[in-house]
Parts: sequence; C-alpha cells; structure tokens
Amino acid sequence: MSQIVISEEALHWKEVAHKVAEEVVRPIAKHFDDVQEYPDEVRQAYIENGLLGVWIPKEYGGHGAGIVALCLVIEELSRACGGTGVAYAVNALGSFPIIVGGTEDQKKLWLPQVASGEKMIAFCLSEKFAGSDAGGMRCQARLEGDEYVINGEKKWTTNGGIASLHTVFAVTDPNSKSRRISGLVVEKGTPGFTVKKVEDKMGIRAVPVVETHFDNVRVPASNLLGGRPGMGFKHAMGTLDLARPGVAAQGLGLAQGALEYAVTYALRRQQFGQNLASMGVIQDMLGKMGSKVEAARGLVLRAATASDVGDKASVNRLAAMCKSFATDVAMEVTTDAVQIFGGYGFMKDYPIEKYMRDAKITQIYEGTNQIQRMVVARNLIKGASDYSYLNDYIPTETFDTYQALSEEELAAAES
Ligand code: CAA
Repeated sequence: MSQIVISEEALHWKEVAHKVAEEVVRPIAKHFDDVQEYPDEVRQAYIENGLLGVWIPKEYGGHGAGIVALCLVIEELSRACGGTGVAYAVNALGSFPIIVGGTEDQKKLWLPQVASGEKMIAFCLSEKFAGSDAGGMRCQARLEGDEYVINGEKKWTTNGGIASLHTVFAVTDPNSKSRRISGLVVEKGTPGFTVKKVEDKMGIRAVPVVETHFDNVRVPASNLLGGRPGMGFKHAMGTLDLARPGVAAQGLGLAQGALEYAVTYALRRQQFGQNLASMGVIQDMLGKMGSKVEAARGLVLRAATASDVGDKASVNRLAAMCKSFATDVAMEVTTDAVQIFGGYGFMKDYPIEKYMRDAKITQIYEGTNQIQRMVVARNLIKGASDYSYLNDYIPTETFDTYQALSEEELAAAES
C-alpha cells in the first residue's frame, strides 16, 4: 500500500499558491463572482509564478512536481475562491489526455505551451445527452484524407471561450462497441468551432462554463491523440483518474476556507453575553467540521500519492473515493459555516455564502458522487476474491436461492 508522500517541491508550490491566493485571488474573489467574469490578473499571476507547469513533466517544459503538488496548489487557490481554483485545475484536466495518451510529438508540441501559460486548455467530454454516461456521446469525427472533420456539440466546457486548446472526445467508429471514441486536439479559431452559450451559474462564477459547437471543424489527422483511433474512452477515463483528486482538493480548499471563516466569526460574534466560540453547541459543530476536513485531506493526499508513485491498482478506486468524500465534506462544512454566521451568512455582503454555492458543483462535475461510489463499489467487488476464504465462516443456507440459479444466471449475476 502506498503511503502519503509530500515532497519539499510540493510544499514549495503550496507556498507559492498560498501567496497568490492571498495577494491576488481573495481580494477580487467577490467582485468576479458578482460580475461572473474571468479575472485575467489571476491568470497572469499563475503564469508569473510558474503555477501552470506544476503537473507537467520536466521533459515537456513543466516542473514535474506531480499530483500531490497539483492538489496542494488547487487547495490553496480554492481556499480563497472556488471559481479561480477550478479555472486553474481545468488546465490539468485538459492536458492530462495528452499526458496519458499523446504521442511523443504531440506531448512536445502542446505540453510546453500549457506549462508556460502561453495557451490555456479545456476538456470537452460531456454532452447534452451524455453526462454520467460519457460513453453515450454523439459528437462525431470522420476521417477525410489527412483530416478529421468534427460535427456535434459539447456541454459544460469549463474555461471554454478563454482556452486556446481543447481536448475533444468524439465518435470515430459508431459501429465499434469498445473502440468508438477518440480524443482530438482542437485549437481556438479553427473554422466552424464556436462557443454558443455561456452558462449563468449558481457558483464558481469567476470561470466560464460554455457549450462548444463543432460545425464541420477540420483538424489535421495528426491531432488524433495517440495516433490511432478508438482509444479515446480509455484516455478520458485515465484522465479522470488523474484529475479527480484535484476536484477533491478544490472541495478540501473550500471546506478549509469556510472553516477558517467560521472560527474567525465565532470568536467575534457576541450573543447571550458571550462569543459563539465559547458555546458548546458551536464547539460541537466546529469540532465535527475540523475533523471532516482533516479526514478529507488524508484521503486526497493518499489518492494523489498513489498517482505519483504509480500505484496503478489503487488509482481508480482512491481517485473516486477522495473525489466523492472530500466534495461531500465541502458541502457539509460550507453549509455549517453559513449556519454559524446565522442570518448574516445568508447575505451576499458576507463572504461565506459563496463557499456554499461554489461547493455544490464539486459534488457533480468530473463524475457525480453517485458515479464515484459506483466506481468504488466496482473496485471492491472486483477485489472480493482476496478474502473469499471468509465464505467458510458464513452459514450456507443464505445462499440456497443463489445456488439454485442456472449457470447463465450465475454468470450474469457475477458480471
Ligand atoms: N482507466 C482506463 N480505462 C478504463 C477506466 C479507467 N479508469 N475505466 C474504464 N475503462 C475502460 C474499461 O476497461 C472498458 O474497456 P474495454 O471496453 O476495453 O473493456 C471501457 O473503458 C468501458 O468501461 P466501463 O464498462 O466501465 O464503462 P461504463 O460505460 O460503464 O462507464 C463510468 C464507466 C465510470 C460510469 C464512466 O462513464 C464515468 O466516469 N462517467 C462519468 C463521466 C464524467 O466523469 N464526466 C465528467 C466530465 S468532465 C467535467 O465535468 C469537467 C469540468 O467541467 C470541470
């Protein structure tokens, strides 16, 4: 079992992110939430401080600091503003398909541009009719000569409109069951590629989430990730395994940030002749909130370490566990923080309601928490043979009905 490993380098990037979060992000977070615009000064701060190269391998222009470092950075940014936290994290999500499935030439071409901040990158997987069922997508890419022609539309593209590069998943073989989908890189400005709808959102309002439309968009066949068609679903799933700890870290940052506000407020707010922090009921809440945050942090770091050390057997399960756990904690802790602020917490001139609004989407995107728990359960069921000896301790009459099943029914039940 891989243990948690936090390198000196990862701690360095956490410190850099903390400084950017406090000096640049927090002072403008409310304004950009109000106007629902992307703060370009935050992007400049990422670039000037080298933050966009944290997860990108050194040989492709990045710092090669790994997923733990990425998570620490996302946590720090989200502690100050969930919207700018995800605006940063989506660059990792968009570039992971290239890291996971790209050819050497593709990595050399695109990853340095992302690492330097010259180009932001977005991830186009979901569609109107294909959210949780990502494999049910309809967007198509047809090979014509030495070009792919893309037609269709994508939903909920975070950073869409401001990103220069997009990793787009499309059906290249409608007749194949397991090799239907491929990933392609599409550059902003390619004829036929447009942003049609900028969503008006409950939270993460500083980052644009849009619909991207593809109307006979032609890209060179060399933009097909990995150089051979049909690998897209695996690349997308491998990407999400790397990216989900980042969403968990976003939830963790929101929970940590809300907890800090709740403690600060509870110490100053006087009721019944004493401050809230001295009341047992409030201490009970703060105690639970703090413990949940620390439990989430442990799971995020454990999952991120599993990626960094190449613990392939655990990555899928731990990524799903930490994503669902930490983002549920984010929702619970931010809601409790609003409760501690009382009536003021509900008002927009106080900073805490934004945390609760920002937290909600973390339970939904990059795979709903219900999908995550299904992934966890599938992993547990797959690993059940490790302790099949426990059958010797379970009385057999429970299984009478099961044993009466035909061989076909048994096979279906086990699959
Ligand atoms: N790594 C590599 N390959 C994987 C994999 C993984 N983690 N998980 C599955 N696969 C492979 C399987 O081995 C299988 O391959 P074969 O066909 O060769 O056997 C293939 O993929 C299909 O696997 P499943 O049968 O498990 O697929 P499924 O249709 O049952 O779906 C799912 C699995 C887990 C539900 C998946 O569809 C899923 O994760 N859904 C959620 C989608 C999602 O997370 N969307 C987020 C969009 S991004 C976003 O939100 C961004 C943003 O705005 C910030």
